[in-house]
Amino acid sequence: MSKRKIVAMPGDGIGKVVLPSAIRVLDAVGFEAEYVHADIGWEFWIRDGNALHQRTIDLLAEYKLGLFGAITSKPKDQAAAELSPELKDKGYVYSSPIVGLRQHFDLDICIRPCRSFKGNPLNFIRRDGDGFAEPPVDAVIFRQNTEGLYAGVEWTDPPPNVRTALESHARMARFKDTPGKDLAVSTRIFTRRACQRVTREAFAYAKKFGYRSVTVCEKPNVIRETSGMLRAEAQAVAKEYPEIALWETNIDAQMMWLTKNPEDYGVLVCGNMFGDIVSDGFAGLVGGLGFACSANIGPEVAVFEPTHGSAPKYETFDPSIVNPIAMILSACMMLDHIGEKDKSDRIRAAVGAVVAEGKTRTYDMLRLPGRQEVLEQGAANTTQMTDAIIERL
Ligand code: NAI
Ligand code: MG
Repeated sequence: MSKRKIVAMPGDGIGKVVLPSAIRVLDAVGFEAEYVHADIGWEFWIRDGNALHQRTIDLLAEYKLGLFGAITSKPKDQAAAELSPELKDKGYVYSSPIVGLRQHFDLDICIRPCRSFKGNPLNFIRRDGDGFAEPPVDAVIFRQNTEGLYAGVEWTDPPPNVRTALESHARMARFKDTPGKDLAVSTRIFTRRACQRVTREAFAYAKKFGYRSVTVCEKPNVIRETSGMLRAEAQAVAKEYPEIALWETNIDAQMMWLTKNPEDYGVLVCGNMFGDIVSDGFAGLVGGLGFACSANIGPEVAVFEPTHGSAPKYETFDPSIVNPIAMILSACMMLDHIGEKDKSDRIRAAVGAVVAEGKTRTYDMLRLPGRQEVLEQGAANTTQMTDAIIERL
């Protein structure tokens, strides 16, 4: 049988460091695959005016599975200024290639598990009498990944037909005298299909992995139409899962509760922006960006990535000091997705053992400011952390 092919997109900055680390771990666990390199990111924007090449899209369309490191994104003007001279003023417009991939392949379901590893000094703790309690957190956020406020349907100075359509709504009366140039509109579009898909996946996951509750976290009391639709679909799907409790929270209250009783939550399901917020909130309770993994799953293609970015300030550090665990756990999610859970469980156990032992810790785990000197202050570098995990395998 020919080896499974996986599209490897390191991207920019520390993506180029953590992705090879994750591939070393995948090799070490005995996962047989061929990694096909694909170009993505800032250097391709500068050179070619395109951060997401058609050849990368073609490779993903063919092989269906991608591992993605991170990319650098910059605001419109800065992006235009950095283009190579021969491409300047030729109408190239920058857009984020990872957002582009999510939309192109309809990677509409984003899964972000936030689980604490025992012994991680960054774990959530709570005052408990005279001491402290460290309740284990195990929350899995299902975020709708393609719609809502991140769909990009927005204007400053909406064109006249849009303005007229908006003014057909009674609540627009307050804005009637605001000049167009002083009016910015970002739409929040939800479709029933997407609401159904993300809530179905959330419940199926809860059942498969034994979670007792699914929390739909939105704000339907205020954002009645879109939040209301996700909530209604969650209620409909919940009827098929009488053994799983459906909880409903508002995003603002949820952020407060996750600093009080995060251990009570299991699976959560949210629209795009609230999912982004609540997953970062939970990630902060289990170690932060160095531990935060994610999967972007569509009907055919799936891409796995740490939630951190390219951390440009560490790009030139040699050796690199960043934590590869978020990327390694993202690779585990790929193994889960393709039915290789025995291997992903082994990797997670190895990560858990290294964290618990506490001898090998990257600078973030030691709460040190990220400087090259951290290596003299007892922090492990990226390679040493990867080696320690491989040794445990
Ligand atoms: P970032 O996630 O790249 O880094 C923020 C800070 O978090 C770093 O300076 C570092 O202190 C820490 N950090 C991140 N990853 C770490 C790791 N693996 N180990 C230890 N510490 C880590 O976010 P920032 O600085 O806001 O953005 C940098 C660039 O990345 C921007 O161009 C941004 O647009 C892009 N970005 C890309 C994302 C993606 O590729 N999916 C996601 C977020 C940001
Ligand atoms: Mg985010």
